[in-house]
Amino acid sequence: MDNATRLQYLEAMGIDVWVPRAFTHPEHMTVPDVSVDNALPEIPTDTWEALQAEVSPCTKCDLCKTRSQTVFGSGNKNADWMFIGEGPGQNEDQQGLPFVGNAGLLLTEMLRAIGLDREDVFIANIVKCRPPANRDPTPTEIDTCKPYLLRQIALVKPKIIVVLGRVAAQALLNTNEPLSKLRGKTYALNDTPVVVVYHPAYLLRTLLDKRKAWADLKLALITYKNKKG
Ligand code: URA
Repeated sequence: MDNATRLQYLEAMGIDVWVPRAFTHPEHMTVPDVSVDNALPEIPTDTWEALQAEVSPCTKCDLCKTRSQTVFGSGNKNADWMFIGEGPGQNEDQQGLPFVGNAGLLLTEMLRAIGLDREDVFIANIVKCRPPANRDPTPTEIDTCKPYLLRQIALVKPKIIVVLGRVAAQALLNTNEPLSKLRGKTYALNDTPVVVVYHPAYLLRTLLDKRKAWADLKLALITYKNKKG
């Protein structure tokens, strides 16, 4: 799709196109605000093939009864950037890929705003199967599925993790804090910096002050640049 057509599509859907401005690098961003006790598994023999072979037929929780297929995740398996959402929706369940609906289009725009293409990053979800009627995944479903995500993180070894929305942030960071308290800070999952941003589906539903969403992305970019040195 050429750029003009893409812009027309996005405008018709009410999606603003985000254009990057200058970024600054405050010194204090090099130290995480919160360290998270969520050990990444050390499975020296783990491989993408082994993990995918376990996830595809998984029946560890009841979500397997209503899903069409598991949604493993997609993108660059050696990415510096990893984006983590909540769980597949209807489009994702049908196509077997994460973030392919309207929220996915906005996610693509958010990536572009910080100079990234979808092929540059790895995108995954906390749960790999669609919760019926797009309800939040239950704590049991999250606990059952999260080891798969932690293994994905251990395999990608990203330089930064960007968590999309409250459900994913609470699950990854082991907290019940509301999103308003979670965003605007940096976390460390072992050595990997984590930043929490608004979920694109939430941004589509609300007339949120765009500056806040921008501030989240800028924090992610600054944190990444500081990590890279
Ligand atoms: N929302 C998510 O959290 N993940 C997806 O894959 C799609 C929508």
